[in-house]
Amino acid sequence: MIQGIIPFSHELVKRAAKEGDIVVDATCGNGNDTLFLSYLVESSGQVYAFDIQQEAIDRTKQLLDEHKRNNVTLIKDTHANVDEYIKDKEVAAAIFNLGYLPKGDKKIVTKPESTLSAVKKLLKMLKKNGLIVLVVYSGHPGGQEEKNAVLEFVTALNQQQYTVLQYQFINFINNPPFVIAIEKK
Ligand SMILES: C[S@@+](CC[C@H](N)C(=O)[O-])C[C@H]1O[C@@H](n2cnc3c(N)ncnc32)[C@H](O)[C@@H]1O
Repeated sequence: MIQGIIPFSHELVKRAAKEGDIVVDATCGNGNDTLFLSYLVESSGQVYAFDIQQEAIDRTKQLLDEHKRNNVTLIKDTHANVDEYIKDKEVAAAIFNLGYLPKGDKKIVTKPESTLSAVKKLLKMLKKNGLIVLVVYSGHPGGQEEKNAVLEFVTALNQQQYTVLQYQFINFINNPPFVIAIEKK
């Protein structure tokens, strides 16, 4: 069976990160990816979860509390500042879920400049065979520009240093989301 976008993105991350690792949720939103990462790296690992909205931080905290997870550092700041929070540590995997907070303010969206700034910083922080996964949504205002900026950047990454994958349902209508995965060689 062909895997959906989110299960496929999680499957890739499962191959890159394991118990004890440091991982990043660059856009925690409702906390679903954060919770997944928290279980993946177990109590000896650490998740750094970013969002610029207090509402997202609160929802993620509530979800983590419900599951009694305590290996997550929640950070209300832009992911573009990721290097201010994670220093001298190698990151095994990072997830970006672009766009707006579901059931939130649709006008607050990820932006090309900060997204790419965070991706560039995380590429430097990744360990060998580490992975960055981006789930790219483009149907909202500004989404097309961000999609183009992400694609332009990742397409130009040196293949000696990185492997870049695009996973997409090509017969779906209405700007379906797709996955970009960058593995550091
Ligand atoms: C599609 S939602 C994330 C969904 C989330 N991964 C989940 O599992 O529910 C995108 C999130 O990115 C956040 N966001 C937008 N710009 C950001 C930035 N510069 N840094 C961190 N988060 C940002 C939004 O506030 C929103 O909550």
